[in-house]
Amino acid sequence: MAFMKRRSLLSLTTASAATFALGDAAQASTTSGHRRHGHGARYRKPYVVGHRGASGYRPEHTLEAYRLAARMGADIIEPDLVITKDGVLVVRHEPEISGTTDVAKRPEFASRKTTKSLDGKPVTGWFTEDFTLAELRTLRAVERLPELRQRNTIYDGLWQVPTFEEVLKLRRELERELGRTIGVYPETKHSTYFRAQGKPLEEKLVPLIRTYGLDRPGAPIFIQSFELQNLLDLRTRFKVKAPLVFLTDAKGGPFADPKKRSYSHLTSPAGLREWAHLLDGLGPSVKQVIAWNADNTLGAPTSLVRDAHAVGLQVCPWTVRAENDFLPADLRNGSNPGDFGRVVDYLDKLYATGIDGIFSDMPDIAVLARERYLSRR
Ligand code: G3P
Ligand code: CA
Repeated sequence: MAFMKRRSLLSLTTASAATFALGDAAQASTTSGHRRHGHGARYRKPYVVGHRGASGYRPEHTLEAYRLAARMGADIIEPDLVITKDGVLVVRHEPEISGTTDVAKRPEFASRKTTKSLDGKPVTGWFTEDFTLAELRTLRAVERLPELRQRNTIYDGLWQVPTFEEVLKLRRELERELGRTIGVYPETKHSTYFRAQGKPLEEKLVPLIRTYGLDRPGAPIFIQSFELQNLLDLRTRFKVKAPLVFLTDAKGGPFADPKKRSYSHLTSPAGLREWAHLLDGLGPSVKQVIAWNADNTLGAPTSLVRDAHAVGLQVCPWTVRAENDFLPADLRNGSNPGDFGRVVDYLDKLYATGIDGIFSDMPDIAVLARERYLSRR
């Protein structure tokens, strides 16, 4: 999902209201009662999620990236969760860490390189579940996209891989510093994969969010997953009350879905009704909200935001990035993939669909565009 590795020049295969009155989901209630208190009502709307922190400006998933995101105005910070050999939740986009740390340059870990099947696909590299936390702490984060985001490489080697608990502590520190609510939007990555190895994420996640007072309706947290089943389990088996968000993509479907359903089906009006009563939000690809034409120009808004609101779900699409490489062809500025394009215009069109929030690698731009959008309504 989203970018895993640097792609070729402009090969765009994946892109990646006045303030809403308490949001549609605020009005909805469900039999389990999890949606009674208006999840997201504590943020200015549409809320801005600092995607992997302010990952457009700092190596992703570092405490410095999260700190910068909040200081730039992000309402919420987003950690992706994986796990160590000794069962500690840490913050990385994927189990394989050669793209975001210096592990490949560490001779002491050369023998840990291996190939595993990750959601049915072979992946070669170094995996968090083969490292203890103490070993992982000896590594340093690096910029994932050094060609596109060369400026961010000045921070390579400065910072460690954070634990999820450190992010929860930082969230509270940032609230005190900034005097406003800062939410956290953890994503369980590859839930089935980790459970099959005897290292389930959920058994660690649930007690942690309870310790930090976040397992309640309306708490400043959204728990997200591309796998539907683990979200349903969190609600029904683990009795989680915190808001839960199902992530979808324009193609494919949730891994290990017992009914082998596609995201396309699960985001149709009929498909939404299969799960919306148990969850709180939908996190679609931006392309599911405003389609892209065959020539990669921006197409027309779909009915997805309206359809999801009709069943009481909030909608927070992923992910807006300022570089030409990630923008529709008609919103690029020149041909240099790393130059910034007309991202404010793109955000303006997305906000106009009625979305409740947006993920952005550049939260400062998403906030600026939101204020401009709100001031013109
Ligand atoms: O979780 C929202 C967005 O981050 C989903 O894509 O692959 O960047 O985690 P990914
Ligand atoms: Ca994510």
